[in-house]
Amino acid sequence: GDNVLFLAHKHGIDLEGACEASLACSTCQVYVSEAHFDKLPEPDEREDDMLDMAPMLQENSRLGCQIV
Ligand code: FES
Repeated sequence: GDNVLFLAHKHGIDLEGACEASLACSTCQVYVSEAHFDKLPEPDEREDDMLDMAPMLQENSRLGCQIV
């Protein structure tokens, strides 16, 4: 399905996504609202590893390209 990064670009939202969803960057980081955060499946290990290196990491950070 379409991920959040794809949808952001489709709607003209400026979200980088330098590695084009190959889990090699954290430039697609988004902050997910509390109401939605708990509804998402847990990030897998590779996403967690990339998030650990993301600048401005928050409790509600996810990688946009991994949210479907
Ligand atoms: Fe690089 Fe999402 S675009 S991890």
